[in-house]
Amino acid sequence: MNMQEIERTLRALRLSGIAETLSTRVMQAQAAQQPFLETFAAMLQDELDRRHSRLMQRRYKRSGLDEKVTLADFDWRFNPKLPRAACFELHTLKFVAEGANALIVGKPGTGKSHLAKAVAYQATLQGHDVRYLEADAEFARYALASATERSGLLKEWVEPDLLILDDLFLARRISEHAAEVLQAIVHQRYKLHRSVVVTSNRVVQDWGRYLGQR
Ligand SMILES: Nc1ncnc2c1ncn2[C@@H]1O[C@H](COP(=O)(O)OP(=O)(O)OP(=O)(O)O)[C@@H](O)[C@H]1O
Ligand SMILES: [Mg+2]
Repeated sequence: MNMQEIERTLRALRLSGIAETLSTRVMQAQAAQQPFLETFAAMLQDELDRRHSRLMQRRYKRSGLDEKVTLADFDWRFNPKLPRAACFELHTLKFVAEGANALIVGKPGTGKSHLAKAVAYQATLQGHDVRYLEADAEFARYALASATERSGLLKEWVEPDLLILDDLFLARRISEHAAEVLQAIVHQRYKLHRSVVVTSNRVVQDWGRYLGQR
């Protein structure tokens, strides 16, 4: 086989990571008079690295996050009142392993979404299936959906290891359908020990009212 044929065969064998770096590894082996096993090991590592980064990309894409926020580049001066210990505790993701939930409640612009996104992104890096939703918009979409689409959406919101409902009750009262799906999500996820993180700038005492209760 010539180089082209080898590359084609590698791709047919789904070894694109090796195919992509092959010409470089050949040059490297020749330049350094490298033992065969060393070159071979490097090629296997290329394949592993590529698979890992594609997995990460897929997980990030599926999460619905619109930015990769990390605590490493967090500006703690942005909101000095943010309870740091609690933020780091969430970031350990122990609550995800335990199937516990977190409520991040506070005034507008205090960094709730930023923190929730950092925790969500960390969870994708740690191998969790994550879904980030702008709650009101997604629930409005749910209310307009057909019955089949609705059951698909509910499934999508129940299945992930971690669900983020960002800015719940943004417009205060939510529709009857939204309230129903919210209840279904919370109930089903609770039974399955799957975590939910909710952010809201509405105090919890008022949530019942927004759900249509007196
Ligand atoms: N710790 C931080 N470091 C750097 N930038 C931050 C930090 N916290 C928040 N920001 C930025 O400040 C802006 C407002 O923060 P964020 O959207 O998280 O607030 P919020 O509490 O979710 O507000 P709202 O209740 O209106 O949704 C965003 O652009 C966000 O990226
Ligand atoms: Mg927000």
